[in-house]
Amino acid sequence: MKTLILYGTLSGSTMTAAELVGSTLREAGHDTNVVSIESATKDLVTAHDALIIASPSWEDEGKDGQPLPEIRKFLESLTTADLTGKKIAVVGLGDIAYPHFCGAVDVLEAKLKELGVTPATASLRVDRYYSLPDNEQKVKDWSANFAKAVTT
Ligand SMILES: Cc1cc2nc3c(=O)[nH]c(=O)nc-3n(C[C@H](O)[C@H](O)[C@H](O)COP(=O)(O)O)c2cc1C
Repeated sequence: MKTLILYGTLSGSTMTAAELVGSTLREAGHDTNVVSIESATKDLVTAHDALIIASPSWEDEGKDGQPLPEIRKFLESLTTADLTGKKIAVVGLGDIAYPHFCGAVDVLEAKLKELGVTPATASLRVDRYYSLPDNEQKVKDWSANFAKAVTT
């Protein structure tokens, strides 16, 4: 299975988590590409069987709990892409101290719904990636579960 992990980041944690998703999926036999949202294209998405979108939550246009605008805009651009059969899931990084913890995940799930996509697995929400000791394991477990869900 060819899996694309698209991530956006401002301070690096989502990139680190996306790379960990990538290495865990590779161990599970996926042919995996981890790509920054700045290099994302529609063709890249259509060339893969599965897509994981990873975003932190930040403030955008005066609202908190939002995905990075580049990620939101890229998803909006997929209205013209054929996503039939594509296995898609969302990973969000955030901080429980904010009122909308991992709000970006809810926004991205709603965008996927508009695109007619039902996520292949429940989304992952990670609190303070670098601060909590269980986070790496949480990401690995979620990734292993995603691999299982999309290959069975
Ligand atoms: C200005 C600012 C706004 C943030 N807003 C939210 C938020 O609304 N919800 C949330 O869960 N986390 C919020 N966070 C926490 C970040 O999403 C979290 O630190 C994340 O790991 C950053 O990812 P990155 O290192 O990939 O940029 C915010 C952080 C900052 C500095």
